[in-house]
Amino acid sequence: KAAAAEAAASSSETKKKIKIGIYFAMWWALNVVFNIYNKKVLNAYPYPWLTSTLSLACGSLIMLISWATRIAEAPKTDLEFWKALFPVAVAHTIGHVAATVSMSKVAVSFTHIIKSGEPAFSVLVSRFLLGETFPVPVYLSLIPIIGGCSLAALTELNFNMIGFMGAMISNLAFVFRNIFSKRGMKGKSVSGMNYYACLSILSLIILTPFAIAVEGPQLWAAGWQKAISEIGPQLLWWMAAQSVFYHLYNQVSYMSLDEISPLTFSIGNTMKRISVIVSSIIIFQTPVQPVNALGAAIAIFGTFLYSQAKQ
Ligand code: 3PG
Repeated sequence: KAAAAEAAASSSETKKKIKIGIYFAMWWALNVVFNIYNKKVLNAYPYPWLTSTLSLACGSLIMLISWATRIAEAPKTDLEFWKALFPVAVAHTIGHVAATVSMSKVAVSFTHIIKSGEPAFSVLVSRFLLGETFPVPVYLSLIPIIGGCSLAALTELNFNMIGFMGAMISNLAFVFRNIFSKRGMKGKSVSGMNYYACLSILSLIILTPFAIAVEGPQLWAAGWQKAISEIGPQLLWWMAAQSVFYHLYNQVSYMSLDEISPLTFSIGNTMKRISVIVSSIIIFQTPVQPVNALGAAIAIFGTFLYSQAKQ
């Protein structure tokens, strides 16, 4: 009997591993496609506040239609839920816009190299704002993360301050998003998929007035004439692709968050960045100096050390 129970447990463990493996593969693949189309759009039509609003709008629409047609069951939410979601949505909005502004100014690979430093932000925020302490190896692992990111930034051929700061702000905002959403999701019956859907809707409401104030319809219309005459109607397809893939990769990542710990999640996220950095360098033929690549490699190796130290 004991042997049968053991076999059943190990087979359900294997099934869980396969499921998580599938989530991770989908998350990374969807993210690579998002990053490529997002950059193609930004190169031709550099209005990051508009494109980040459209990504959220597209995701919100997909989910509202899925709920209305009962493809997905709508979540049961109350005022308390939306109140708890509000700080998460503010952080998600800031992190999303900041990353998109960054990518409108620098190579996709550079934004993601800086974003691979997110664990360092997580430790510093937890230590200095939340008073959490960590074992010494965790602090030591920050040295290669911060050192590697700094080396990559200093040797970046097309360095741009807005691009750099955008990625840094995005790191900080996403650390807060993860802290708040861990609190918000705990003990709630809303699934990862629906939690992310509500997050998109609330972020869209927050972002829209700011996007209008910062860029606005006049700039959008003028830029559109120029972009569409240069690229042609396929620009619309690129925009649709970046919006749909933005929603899908985030949805899958929140679905996997239901199954895994925040630590496994952040390791998966850094590994995701390796695939984005490599594929975007190939597709956009981004010039990279060896010392620049070395900085990125050190930073990513630091993240690996960090995950080992935290375990
Ligand atoms: C965004 O547009 O929100 C960023 O590309 C997000 O980056 P991340 O999900 O890879 O942290």
